[in-house]
Amino acid sequence: MSRKTGDALLLDHGDMRLVTTDTDETLPAHSSPDRNQIIQLDPDHPGFGDAEYRIRRNSIARIAMGYQPGMPIPDAPYTELEHELWRSIRETIGPAHLRNACAEYLECIARLDLPHNRIPQLREVSARVQSLSGFRLEPVAGLVQPRVFLESLADGVFLCTQYIRHYSTPLYTPEPDVVHELLGHAVTLASARFADLNRLVGSVVRRTHSPEKLERLARVYWFTIEFGVVREDNQIKAYGTGLLSSAGELEKMHSAELRPFDLEAASRQEYDPTRFQPLLYCADSFEEMYQKLTDYLTQLS
Ligand SMILES: [Fe+2]
Repeated sequence: MSRKTGDALLLDHGDMRLVTTDTDETLPAHSSPDRNQIIQLDPDHPGFGDAEYRIRRNSIARIAMGYQPGMPIPDAPYTELEHELWRSIRETIGPAHLRNACAEYLECIARLDLPHNRIPQLREVSARVQSLSGFRLEPVAGLVQPRVFLESLADGVFLCTQYIRHYSTPLYTPEPDVVHELLGHAVTLASARFADLNRLVGSVVRRTHSPEKLERLARVYWFTIEFGVVREDNQIKAYGTGLLSSAGELEKMHSAELRPFDLEAASRQEYDPTRFQPLLYCADSFEEMYQKLTDYLTQLS
């Protein structure tokens, strides 16, 4: 994927995709500009040439722009083609989860019981997650600044996109979409332990004023919550949401170079979000990951 450079670029929360903001004048004024940027698609985005997709995607983004915390989340108008895309992704990813997901994730996905036959609405998933861990989901129009995304975690709020990837690339999205948010983040947030870790990241970020320290925390988030793996029964299993929301990433993780679970090293490790991840940090167990990440974050706070 080619990259643009320039002042208009934003970095995604943990996914760190580079995007530009739209100049579409038909869009409403931002009520919270730091959370509600409409994304202008890059020419190599799979949906760039599909005018109908772009219109609907922007209409879904507008839902978030009119959203105020505490109000019911309006439903997104998904098409039958998009529901079909969700069904086909779930058919592919279900068996990949059974082979590659850690036990905590498999328990969570059973507990959350997301529908297979349609894209669930954020409203219903948020209510379910909140009843399980206290975390809630709130819609955003697109990618947000890392600090905005990470700080919201301190309040038990996970900012989610609602649009789904283009149907032409069911196994690939250049940015977070509803598949990544729900099959990745929402499922893990049904776990009290994952909810604890996300809150802790948020509270540390809130107390961090140095841009360099924020960047290091964002890398730790990337190599754990987004792309973490652990050993279970002498096998490598995923707990990272970027892996668990992509059947391709789940298969490729077995080819990655595994490094010991050293969070200081991870905080200094560069990565490229536009390719399958060639380098992962692996803990010897879920419990080791949970304890070491908790300790690392606690000593920073
Ligand atoms: Fe993510």
